[in-house]
Amino acid sequence: MELFKSDEEVAIQRESCLLVSATITEVAKILKPGITTLYLDEMAETFIRDNGATPSCKGYHGYPYSICISINEQVVHGFPGEYILKEGDIVSIDTVVYKNGFHGDHAYTFVIGETSKEVLDLVRITKESLYAGIKQAVTNNRTGDIGYAIEKYTNGNHGYGVIRDFVGHGVGREMHEDPQVPNYGKQGTGKKLVENMVLAIEPMITMGTNRIHILDDGWTAVSADKSPAVHFEHNVCVKKGSPIILSDFTPIEAAEKANSNLNSSYY
Ligand code: MF3
Ligand code: CO
Repeated sequence: MELFKSDEEVAIQRESCLLVSATITEVAKILKPGITTLYLDEMAETFIRDNGATPSCKGYHGYPYSICISINEQVVHGFPGEYILKEGDIVSIDTVVYKNGFHGDHAYTFVIGETSKEVLDLVRITKESLYAGIKQAVTNNRTGDIGYAIEKYTNGNHGYGVIRDFVGHGVGREMHEDPQVPNYGKQGTGKKLVENMVLAIEPMITMGTNRIHILDDGWTAVSADKSPAVHFEHNVCVKKGSPIILSDFTPIEAAEKANSNLNSSYY
């Protein structure tokens, strides 16, 4: 179902989106080699609840944790656990919070310590592709315009794998609302975008294949060729001319740069 929002509702939802940004910022402050991913999940859940919200992922179709942590070839929906983070890991954090009747849902990918130029390029280009997609989130454009922009930026220019099995989506009173927002498509096709639609735009890009495989836990999606994967996601309010990004990478990026265990040399 598509749910149209008033300006007031968008303003309320923005709080949920910014709480996700704040949660990922808290994770960015403590990310380092030697800690378990379960520790990050526990910290994030406490932070979300202390801020008067609930972690939407926990219990969602049986998902057991508050955040998704996807490492290296894991694309999305990775389980936090006893895995110990190490130098060179690519760490994608994706989470959703529910507050005042609205969900916020976004994601950010970090790199711990030294890595290859190829990985840093993948991180930078995936992040840039998100903004290329966001630019298209304006009234009278269609979902295919967003997907086309992301696919052209990542696959067309760089030959990367654009994941097709998972897509962006509307987000609001429900975590997943219409329309679906694929990271591929044809210009001028798909659902028409209207003012105050809130979209989760979320390129999931690999250095290799666009095919995925789900692990035995029933959730964790990995690239079929084990190539590194990156995921960035914003919540975006469709407007005439230029969209409003409701989530905010600014505090996350500041924490990333301040944390000497994280590699921010891709900027
Ligand atoms: N942001 C992800 C999505 O839209 C994660 C949702 S929570 C999970 O699919 F429970 F599905 F992991
Ligand atoms: Co999402």
